[in-house]
Amino acid sequence: MIINTANLNLYYHKFQALKNVNMSIKRNLITGMIGPSGCGKSTLLRIFNRMNDLIEGVRITGSVLIDNDDIYAPVYDLILLRKRVGMVFQRPNAFPLSIFDNIAYGPRVWSISDKKTLTEIVERSLAAVDLFDDLKDDLRRPALSLSAEKQQRLCIARLLAVEPEILLMDEPCSALDPIATGKIEELMLDLKKKYTIIIVTHNMQQAARIADEVGFMLLGELVEFDTAKTVFTNPKDKRTFDYISGRFG
Ligand SMILES: Nc1ncnc2c1ncn2[C@@H]1O[C@H](COP(=O)(O)OP(=O)(O)OP(=O)(O)O)[C@@H](O)[C@H]1O
Ligand SMILES: [Mg+2]
Repeated sequence: MIINTANLNLYYHKFQALKNVNMSIKRNLITGMIGPSGCGKSTLLRIFNRMNDLIEGVRITGSVLIDNDDIYAPVYDLILLRKRVGMVFQRPNAFPLSIFDNIAYGPRVWSISDKKTLTEIVERSLAAVDLFDDLKDDLRRPALSLSAEKQQRLCIARLLAVEPEILLMDEPCSALDPIATGKIEELMLDLKKKYTIIIVTHNMQQAARIADEVGFMLLGELVEFDTAKTVFTNPKDKRTFDYISGRFG
């Protein structure tokens, strides 16, 4: 297991958005989180890199361990956490910088300034998302001039540049057409050899195609967590069955 939560609760002021979540996420798998809008998927994802800390009025109880380290312990190094656990959003959030500078951004934060080292990191990261051949002669081009799919790939490359362990993806394909979505899914299947991926998706077909394990959430509760096959073909909880058979949500 790479991540373990125990009796995890999260409140936005008085509103409880996560209710006693106990889950274990396995290394080098793709874990898919599904559930109707507002059930707490994004909130749960943000738990894993402490992004909720930035939101006013948030209170968290319970524990979250990554590699057996309590990431909510006061001594835990937040900068290191954000390096270990990278996040990709619905819309690609490439910076208004060149392709090169987007990817070199993280390594520069980590005080790497040597041009040769940076170039190697940029090239390696682009290659890992299959953009290198396309862009190798264009590294000074503005990142925002790329297609949405390539920008999303670039955002993933930007995370890989700081050598994370875990990639959080919050509906990473929702702004993409089906062909671009297929390409990002292929990329995820390739990346899971090296990384642990947690993806939130509204698209159950997508979860069925790429996830090894799936969690179904409802009203802040983790109702079911099992292999994708079990969740989609033989769920234990009636509420899961109702959701996957399209009765609500
Ligand atoms: N910053 C916030 N302040 C107060 N309540 C919030 C905040 N962010 C989310 N919530 C509430 O917490 C609950 C869970 O929200 P969250 O965004 O995690 O759901 P979600 O499953 O990701 O939904 P969607 O599928 O629409 O993205 C919702 O009721 C939402 O209104
Ligand atoms: Mg969300």
